[in-house]
Amino acid sequence: MSRPTAGFARRVSALASRSTAASPSLSFAGPSSLSIRAARPMSTMQRTGKKVMTPIAPFARPFSSTPSRQHGEVVRPEPGTGIKLTFQDSKGNEIKTIEGNEGDDILSLAHEYDVDLEGACEGSVACSTCHVIIDPEHYDKLPEPDDEENDMLDLAFGLEDTSRLGCQVKLTKDLDGMVAKLPSATRNMYVDGAKARTH
Ligand code: FES
Repeated sequence: MSRPTAGFARRVSALASRSTAASPSLSFAGPSSLSIRAARPMSTMQRTGKKVMTPIAPFARPFSSTPSRQHGEVVRPEPGTGIKLTFQDSKGNEIKTIEGNEGDDILSLAHEYDVDLEGACEGSVACSTCHVIIDPEHYDKLPEPDDEENDMLDLAFGLEDTSRLGCQVKLTKDLDGMVAKLPSATRNMYVDGAKARTH
């Protein structure tokens, strides 16, 4: 093994003289017996005796490769096997009839099948932009809206007796053939004040 050169020894010696008593990091015992201890500064706990909480770095989170499932994500049923739902425009003209599965909500189905139903708060019952008018026959089969939904419906543009929030109406088998009519406009108090948005 080659011996350390005189220049190298001088550099190590200079470094050793700079190290502080609080953080002894280097020692040098001459050119033929060189020893360098690990240069590790004292921790805050060692200096102060107090335990310090170190924030966890973001990259220390466990890695997961499982694909996340979005709220209201819809899986289209095989054609002819799903629950039928017809969307109509405000004049009662059919936009399209689609099929969904039990548990799918009207708003998610509208998005899946490119029907222009906004849903600004993404189903958190904080807007009325998913307002739809259900045909009376199927409206009577729905569970009653809760207070939160009723509060938002009160803000809806063009409220009717069978109005519901699309994000709160979930398909069941006995709702097969239901019609959801879009109102002529929606009003989003949270995003655009009281301005109505026409469909
Ligand atoms: S999307 Fe906002 S209440 Fe339905």
